[in-house]
Amino acid sequence: MELPADLPATVRDARRIEVFTGAGMSADSGLDTFRDATTGLWSNVDAQAMASIDSWSRDPDPMWAWYLWRAAKARAAVPHDGHRAVAAWQDMPGVTVHVTTQNIDDLHEHAGSSDVSHLHGSLFSFRCTICGAPAAEPALPSLGDDPVDRIQPPECRICGNPVRPGVVWFGEALPHADFVAAEESMETCDLVVIVGTSGVVYPAAGLPRIAASRGVPVVEISPDDTDLTPVATWSLRTTAAVGLPRLLR
Ligand code: APR
Repeated sequence: MELPADLPATVRDARRIEVFTGAGMSADSGLDTFRDATTGLWSNVDAQAMASIDSWSRDPDPMWAWYLWRAAKARAAVPHDGHRAVAAWQDMPGVTVHVTTQNIDDLHEHAGSSDVSHLHGSLFSFRCTICGAPAAEPALPSLGDDPVDRIQPPECRICGNPVRPGVVWFGEALPHADFVAAEESMETCDLVVIVGTSGVVYPAAGLPRIAASRGVPVVEISPDDTDLTPVATWSLRTTAAVGLPRLLR
């Protein structure tokens, strides 16, 4: 894959890199994105019905079944060459690479990345809906079985209310420390690499604009145009598993 002529020098000269990833970063590891027309998770379920605190309060069982199924799939997923390229970049002397992800899987960490900010939480953290007490990870469904559409969530050992996934639902606040770390990185970096996000969900999607408004070069890796393509200096029409290793080479 040919890179734009002026991109390699920019990547070589970058010292403080911000890698900003979305569901497309996990697609090459077999995890569905949200909005890809064919296989996107949301095309099979109603976003509001499966990712809002109101739905959870009304009827947690379908959501609990769906998040456990996603946790089982994420646990079985393997990082790809793109995850490994980001981790290798972090290990390079003389550069700092911060990763901000909207994803709730742990594929960046499994590939060896550290210093990862999770804006939308994690599939593998659980807490009480009401008192917030941390809860142990429940047994995950077997991927060999057909997904069931309802599972009753366990009760909090402290107050007896339903345990929930440690993910951010529509209408909820993002984890403050992760968001501040991402903001600070966008305010101090000298290169942004956006991988696999449609750029339609705020406040996350507003973060790359902080760097772009500082005149920082932005390279996007996505097979399709996105809402963040307009802020990209270069937009590579390729996948995460191909584009990131190519960029690092
Ligand atoms: N490599 C790179 N990008 C890809 C790949 C791939 N193999 N396959 C798809 N993409 C791109 C799509 O073109 C799309 O632009 O990844 C993007 C996925 O966009 P979404 O499905 O909207 O995922 P994301 O942007 O992460 O969604 C943001 O929305 O539903 C909420 O909380 C959820 O964190 C999620 C947020």
